[in-house]
Formats: sequence, structure tokens, C-alpha cells
Amino acid sequence: MIEVIKALKSEIASTEINSQDELEAFRIKYLSKKGLISKLFEDFKSVPNEEKREIGQKVNELKLFSTDLYNTFKNKLQDNGQQLSSIDFSLPGEPIKLGKRHPISQTRQEIVDIFARIGFTIAEGPEIEDDWHVFSGLNFPEEHPARDMQDTFFIHKKPDYLLRTHTSSVQVRVMETTNPPIRQIFPGRVFRNEAISSRSHCIFHQIEGLYIDTNVSFADLKQTLLYFSKELFGPQTEIRLRPSFFPFTEPSAEMDVYCTICGGKGCTVCKYTGFLEILGCGMVDPAVLESSGIDSIKYTGFAFGIGIERIAMLLYQINDIRFLFENDIRFLEQF
Ligand code: DAH
Repeated sequence: MIEVIKALKSEIASTEINSQDELEAFRIKYLSKKGLISKLFEDFKSVPNEEKREIGQKVNELKLFSTDLYNTFKNKLQDNGQQLSSIDFSLPGEPIKLGKRHPISQTRQEIVDIFARIGFTIAEGPEIEDDWHVFSGLNFPEEHPARDMQDTFFIHKKPDYLLRTHTSSVQVRVMETTNPPIRQIFPGRVFRNEAISSRSHCIFHQIEGLYIDTNVSFADLKQTLLYFSKELFGPQTEIRLRPSFFPFTEPSAEMDVYCTICGGKGCTVCKYTGFLEILGCGMVDPAVLESSGIDSIKYTGFAFGIGIERIAMLLYQINDIRFLFENDIRFLEQF
């Protein structure tokens, strides 16, 4: 029996345990009620009396040795629990999906930054406006056909409340409350009751600009817009100013830039002209200055309104404005 105990001891001593499963197998094999050590105690009963003392000691020693070993492995496994669990921590992790800013927000920020570099600050106005700030205060006489230029969503008639059709309404709010000099831009969302197509949408975004000071001329306006266009589209950019009409500016113009979608060859977006209209502008009509309480003899100014979607379409070569509103993740992920 001494030999059996010896063999068992060396077997136990050389056992390697690296997992909970192995630990449990060890316990069952050696330490459980039906294990090999319990069996030794069974066999011990038939040992002749004169050997009982020596063999009893050896069996007890073996039991102690095995229990100690078992506890040592158990503690070790607990300490290294994470390493020995079934999770493989060396595998690459699941990437965290990063959100992105919408291309319209990115474009708006770019435009804001460009004007901020030449001293324009930002202001905002409400989307729900009254007739005065959207039309009358901007020199649109009541019942005048110029109001038809912008098909309006009315919220209430007499008194008229409406969704602003342009950010020019913020000009009036600022002129009413600020003394010149004024050098500000007003980004915002505007609404028009228009058929949705590849070129126009019933909701879109504009950035309005207003500069009022003494001795402001049309040359200042032109130079500001040229600076803006070159900053945005690159130093080669060409602009084209066409005479136009807006009730609140005199003279008025519309500005086109070279169409980057077709490279000037002509496409559906630029209506085969090679140029894309991106803004309206002009010298603030003295009547508008006066109705907001600004002395039109002392002060002159210019204003402009930029369509953000148009700019985004040019910058990113998007040939349909509707992509910007559908929020299709396959489209948005490209920005
Ligand atoms: N508000 C005009 C529009 O939405 C754009 C515009 C034209 C704004 C001329 C201006 C301006 O400030 O001077 O069509």
C-alpha cells in the first residue's frame, strides 16, 4: 500500500491545472467521496494492525497535500480569473460607430467660419414670423406681386403669422434693435410652399449677411462675395453678378459660381448654363433702413442671402437636393 500511496502522490504532484474544468476534474478524481483518496481510507481498514500507524500517517499526509494543492490552484485561478475565462481578450474589439455632422451643418459651419474671419458675428431669429419682419419691413408692399416670389406657408391670416420664407427677416429684427455699424450673418431654416424637385425643396437653409456702416459701397459687397467664393471653392473660382430685383435692395443682383458638378459643360443642375446661382444680394434699400429706424443719409449697407443646400451640392457634387433631406445612412456616411 505504501507503493500505491507513493505513486498517487507523485501523480498528484505533477498535475497541471489551468482551468476551472481541470480543477473540478482534480477534485472529483482525488478528493471527492468516491475519489482515489477516499478509496485509500477504505483500503486502510484492511491494513494489518502493526502497519496501521505508518500507513495511516501517509494517507493523512497525502490527503492534506492534495487538499493544499487543490486550494492553491483554486486561488490562482481566481486571481487570474479573467485570463482563464472563456473570453479571448486578444481578439480585436467591436468598433464604436462615430456619428457625423450632417453635410448641411458642415457646410453652414464652413460658411460661418469664412465670414467670421473678416469680422462677421452670428445672430439668429425665429422660424415663425409675422408679416412685418418677412415682408412689410423689407419693403414688400401689401398685395404687391413681389410677395409671390416666395410661396408662403401661412399659420394664421389677419394678423399674418407664417413660416419665414427667407432669413432676410432677421435683418429687420437686427436693424430694429442695433445701432450701426452692423456686420453680422444670420444662418437659419426657411420654408416655401414649393414643389419638391432635384433643385428645390419646401424646407431649406440660408445664411443672410448684413453690413451697415458709413460709406459702404457696391464695391465692398462685390469684394466680400469674391473673397467668400474663393475661400469656399478655391482661388480659381469665378463669380458672375447678374442684375436682379429684390424689394429690399437697390440695386440688386444674383450671384452665380462656376458649376463644379459638370465642370462648366452644362448639366441638369446648372440648367446647361455652366453656372449655378448661389445667392441674392444688393445695397440695402434706404426705405428699409428708415423703416427700421436707421438714418439712410448717414448710413449705407449691403445684404446678401446664400442658399446653403446649393453650396453643399456644389462642394460635394450632389446632383439632387432631395438626398440632403432623406437621411439615408448610405448617403450620410460619405461625409
Ligand atoms: N431673401 C432672398 C431670397 O430668399 C435672398 C436675398 C436677396 C437676400 C438679396 C438678401 C439680398 O439679403 O440682399 O430669395
